[in-house]
Amino acid sequence: TTVYLKDYEPFGYLVEDVHLTFRLAPNATRVLSRIRFAPNPATKTRDFFLNGENVTLISAKIDGAGVAPEITADGLRLEDAPDAPFTFEAEVEIDPAENTALEGLYMSNGMYCTQCEAEGFRKITYYPDRPDVMATFTVRIEGDLPVMLSNGNPAASGEGWAEWHDPWPKPSYLFALVAGELVAHEDRFTTASGRAVDLNLWVRPGDEHKCAFGMEALKKSMRWDEEVYGREYDLDVFNIVAVDDFNMGAMENKGLNIFNSAAVLASPETSTDANFERIEAIIAHEYFHNWTGNRITCRDWFQLCLKEGLTVFRDSQFTADMRSAPVKRISDVIDLRARQFPEDQGPLAHPVRPESFQEINNFYTATVYEKGAEVIGMLKRLVGDEAYAKALDLHFERHDGQACTIEDWLRVFEDATGRDMSQFKRWYSQAGTPRLSVADSYENGTYTLTFRQHTPPTPGQDQKAPQVLPIAVGLLGQNGEEIVPTTLLEMSEAEQSFDFPNMAQRPVPSILRGFSAPVVLEQCWDAERTAFLLAHDTDPFNRWDAGRQLARESLVAQITEGAAPDASYLDGIATLVSDEALDPAFRALMLSGPTQSEIAQILHERRHTPDPDAIFTSAEALGDAKAARLEHLLPAIKDATEIRAPYSPDADQAGKRALWSAALSLETRLDGGAAATAAFESADNMTIQLAALTCLVRAGADEDALAAFEAQWKDDRLVMDKWFAMQIAATAPENALPRARHLTEHPAFDLKNPNRFRAVIGAFAMNHAGFHRADGEGYDFLAGWLITLDAKNPQTAARMCAPFQSWTRYDADRRASMKAALERIAATPDLSRDMSEMVSRLLAA
Ligand code: ARG
Ligand code: ZN
Repeated sequence: TTVYLKDYEPFGYLVEDVHLTFRLAPNATRVLSRIRFAPNPATKTRDFFLNGENVTLISAKIDGAGVAPEITADGLRLEDAPDAPFTFEAEVEIDPAENTALEGLYMSNGMYCTQCEAEGFRKITYYPDRPDVMATFTVRIEGDLPVMLSNGNPAASGEGWAEWHDPWPKPSYLFALVAGELVAHEDRFTTASGRAVDLNLWVRPGDEHKCAFGMEALKKSMRWDEEVYGREYDLDVFNIVAVDDFNMGAMENKGLNIFNSAAVLASPETSTDANFERIEAIIAHEYFHNWTGNRITCRDWFQLCLKEGLTVFRDSQFTADMRSAPVKRISDVIDLRARQFPEDQGPLAHPVRPESFQEINNFYTATVYEKGAEVIGMLKRLVGDEAYAKALDLHFERHDGQACTIEDWLRVFEDATGRDMSQFKRWYSQAGTPRLSVADSYENGTYTLTFRQHTPPTPGQDQKAPQVLPIAVGLLGQNGEEIVPTTLLEMSEAEQSFDFPNMAQRPVPSILRGFSAPVVLEQCWDAERTAFLLAHDTDPFNRWDAGRQLARESLVAQITEGAAPDASYLDGIATLVSDEALDPAFRALMLSGPTQSEIAQILHERRHTPDPDAIFTSAEALGDAKAARLEHLLPAIKDATEIRAPYSPDADQAGKRALWSAALSLETRLDGGAAATAAFESADNMTIQLAALTCLVRAGADEDALAAFEAQWKDDRLVMDKWFAMQIAATAPENALPRARHLTEHPAFDLKNPNRFRAVIGAFAMNHAGFHRADGEGYDFLAGWLITLDAKNPQTAARMCAPFQSWTRYDADRRASMKAALERIAATPDLSRDMSEMVSRLLAA
């Protein structure tokens, strides 16, 4: 069944207060609930339906008297619930040990753990499981485990029990419970107004040495949200728990954040610089949700971007402040183009605020999160920093304690700035990536930029109206000097021109600086201008993007015309990477080329059928040419970026290691792996160890190193995930499938652990030419594993359908094989709702 945004209706009852008792037992946990309901004055409907799935009702009472509700597969209904305040009580039984979907209450390595967002609470007990029903919770946990946690503040505890009280009304998706043998890494934080907060990071014994970094990140996040958004923490404790089996990265449950251990545990020996940066960002993200998500939540799941887009935007700002802002921006755009653009331009395209869904878990997407964050970034650019701050203050003041909509959010901006947001709102309702083309002219001293915007149709949306586009532009003189600094042009028509009068010379335009709008810029290709921007642009994003465009055009020409790698690109890169004035992290990014699937997309747009093997071969040829061109520079680059101080995951060291590793990878193309072997053997941190191992895998010289790595790290799950993933993703295309198959037979391959499943099956799909092998066996392999996983964990299985979203752009044989693989999934008996929705959307392409 499909749920529609337009059908929203409030629930017939308010919940005033919830009291829950858990009697923990692996296969038969009892949950006793006592819930005070009162008629909701906002509606006249009084349908007393409580969601509930996979729960066995033992007994139910209203105001102390036994009742016999009607029970269905998805809930419980009482026909004659009172039209006055009453207390509903129920006792149910659930089976956490058999819960492999990792939604609701489940077990991970002997530890009880919950995941309720979006609709997991209904697998714990009967409840109006919807975000617009907010209530205070008191929770009693009975069990023989040493640590038993829930939301809010600790209320009381004794031998075999603990009670928690959360004074802040919240929706059920923010409920959490954890119980297990855990140890805490403890700290303290004093808020701006003087509240003392106990901070705990709970882990399994043996992981204590991986907590310090996450704790520091938490304290930095708490301070930053006070300083930048004026948001203080509001409880006496803040608990974070690391769990090995988790479907997503982390979850912002009130006062009790639960993290995938990969998203919080870190040590220099076991984590890469990229892991550290990601952990810092996710800790911040979940913490920031306390205000954007928890204190102000969503009315219904269509409004998901209200909390996610804003919170991703906030965590990006935080990372930009903690590290390098330009590097963060470039990394975010790389990610947006790699994950969101394909989604927005394929069969899974949906608006930032979807209008219908079958399974909400399928909408925790790059579009809702990352494009949702881009929309906030555009808003801020359009109204300016000061007005943005004013609007956010009003948002927190007006909506604290409420479950809100995108309409509420935009009204805040209208009221705070006086600006009409009705056209801007299209960013929330129109799917698809706008294409922005630009032409210029120079006449009588006036330079004119003329833009046209156009958004191709997406599923269910044939017609698109013009959107508001903030276009940041700068103009450079012929010698590379900046003659017009970054200026914001605001485009709202389908076609629009902007004049720059009094220009003594024809300038060189730098358009869409900082990637000021999430669009595809279609500028007439001009190799000379692009090389000029690569050399001179003052905007770091556009400078980086110029290099990226040159690399892309080189690859396209290599593939379609048999051209040699582009010399102007190689020369431009050579100048840049040895420029000591530039941040090493930025220079490392300059060295990275477009992904193979990005090239496949470009070829498709230009009406060439992408050949994955040709793309792979050309990318290799460009890499070899880069190595040859930069050979004489590599020793100096490595020498200048080698770290001699003790390891620190800070941005400065990380940037140097990134450039050092990029140089090592070029060197490996020249020496066959000698330098990488030496680096691998002497590495004292995971960043270098893994970078060196990746070089060896790419060079096909990995047998000994892979075995040594495995022997060293076999007892560390998170490191072994890297071992599994990297050797599949980085190997030559013809080895990818045999390797992935072989590794599914490894004793440490575990279907039930999402990290491990993704490390093997997900990594395989990232090997572009390996996945798209001509015989179609790559598709079969993925389909087969998705079918197997779907029976246990639909959420993770459904998310991993994404590699199929580009199926229509390949040749007839590959298309037929991918379609057959999708049809095979679709024909599987008892397919989950998650999976059947994904596959039917993919097949509709
Ligand atoms: N709200 C979480 C976050 O943004 C994500 C949880 C998603 N869970 C899910 N089952 N879809 O960090
Ligand atoms: Zn989030």
